[in-house]
Amino acid sequence: MGGLEINLENCLGKTVLVVGGGGREHAIVDALSRSPRVSKIYCAPGNAGIGSQAFNVPLKDTDVEGLKAFALENQVDLTVVGPEAALAAGIADAFRAAGLAVFGHTQAATAIESSKEFAKKLMDKYGIPTAAYRSFSDFEEALAYVSSRPFPAVLKYDGLAAGKGVVIAQDLDEARKALADMLLDHSFGEGRVVVEDFLSGPEFSFLCFVDGSRVYPMPLSQDHKRAFDGDKGPNTGGMGAYTGLPFITEEDRKFALEEIMCKTASAMVAEGLPLSGVLYGGLIKTSQGIKVIEFNARFGDPETEVVLPLLKSDIYDIFEAVATACPVEEPVWENAVTLGVVLASKGYPGHYEKGFDIQGLDRVDAQVYHMGTAVRDGQVFTSGGRVLMVVSGGKDLAEARAKVYREVEKIQCENLFYRKDIAHIAFE
Ligand code: AMP
Ligand code: GLY
Repeated sequence: MGGLEINLENCLGKTVLVVGGGGREHAIVDALSRSPRVSKIYCAPGNAGIGSQAFNVPLKDTDVEGLKAFALENQVDLTVVGPEAALAAGIADAFRAAGLAVFGHTQAATAIESSKEFAKKLMDKYGIPTAAYRSFSDFEEALAYVSSRPFPAVLKYDGLAAGKGVVIAQDLDEARKALADMLLDHSFGEGRVVVEDFLSGPEFSFLCFVDGSRVYPMPLSQDHKRAFDGDKGPNTGGMGAYTGLPFITEEDRKFALEEIMCKTASAMVAEGLPLSGVLYGGLIKTSQGIKVIEFNARFGDPETEVVLPLLKSDIYDIFEAVATACPVEEPVWENAVTLGVVLASKGYPGHYEKGFDIQGLDRVDAQVYHMGTAVRDGQVFTSGGRVLMVVSGGKDLAEARAKVYREVEKIQCENLFYRKDIAHIAFE
C-alpha cells in the first residue's frame, strides 16, 4: 500500500491510567488531557473533579494486582503513578514484569523516599549536601548522641510515616519522649531513627523528571506546610504553593540542579537503582548553601498543582520517554508564575467531618483541582481533609495572588478554611 499506509496506533490515540486520587493526580490528569496523543484517561481511584476529565476506576492505589489486571484488560498504553505508597508496594516492578509501560520507580529505588537512612547514606557516599546525621535502633545510644549535639535536634522515623515521622525536639526532655515513642513503643512500626542537625532557612521543592542519569527539571516551587497564616499551627500535607521563588537566584538553581538533583540521579545509577519517574528534592537554602532536607520519589502535593499548568510541552511525550528509557526534548515551560490555595475541612489535619455541600464551583474563573471530593446526584461534597485547590497564573506573584483569592471567595461551603497568606515571603 506504500504511501497510503496509515499508522493506526497513532490515529487511535493512547490510553493512560493514572494511579491516585488527590489534587496531584487531578493536575496530572489535567495535563494529560491537553495532550493530542491521549484519547482515554482512567484514574484509580480518582475523585469527583477528576471524574469530569477521566474515567474513575474504583481500585485502591496500592491494589497492585487489581490495577495490573485492569491495565491489561483495558489495553492501557502507559500508567502514571502518583502516590509513594503504590511505588513502595512495588507497582512499577509488577507492571514492568507484565510488559506494561509505567512511569514510576522500582520498589528498590523508592527507598530514596521510604528509607531516610538509605537517603542519608547515599548523600554521604556521593558528597550531596545535607545535615550531619547518625542512625539508631537503640534508645539509649540515640539519646546519648542527641545529648552530644546542639538543640534543636531533628528525629526522623526511618520509614513511610505519612509525614508524621519527624520531630523537632527543642530540648532533651522532648527528644527523650519522641525517641521513646519511636524506639520503645514503636508507634510507627519496627524502624530505626535518624537523628540529624537542625538546618534553618527557606525550604523549597525541586521536582525533576528522571530517567536514569537524564534529568529534566521542572520550575521550583514552595509549599506551605503549616495549617494557619504566619506558618503557625500543626503540620499538614500542604496548604498552598507557588512558583517564581523570590529568594532563589539562577546560581542557586544551577547549584541545586547540578550538585543535588543530577548528582543524586547519577548516584542511583551507580548503585544499580536507576530512577524512572519523578525525583522530588525537599531543599533548604541555609547560610552555608543549599542542602537536602529529604527526597521524595514522586510528584509533590500541592506542588504539582502549581508546576504542571506551566508545562507547554506534551506531558505524554515525557512520561512515555521516561517509562521506556528513551531521551526526550528538554520540556518547555511558560514564562509566568502560578499560585495555589488549598481549601481544607475545618479541623484538618486533626479530626474533621465530611459530607458538606460545595457551591459556586461553576463560577470560578481559575483552575480548580479536587483533592478530597465526591459527588452524589450531581452535587459535589467534601470527602477528605484537603478538599480543593484553586490555582491561577500571572505575570508576577502579586497578580496571581490577587486573582486566586478573588476566585476562592466564590466557593461556598460551611466547613472549609484556607490560608490567606500564600507566598507571603514575596510580600514581606
Ligand atoms: P521530612 O519528612 O524529612 O520532609 O521532614 C518534614 C519537615 O521537617 C521538613 O519539611 C522540615 O520542615 C522539617 N525538617 C526535617 N529535617 C530538618 C532539618 N534537618 N532541619 C530543619 N528542619 C527539618
Ligand atoms: N508537599 C509535600 C509533599 O508532597 O510531600
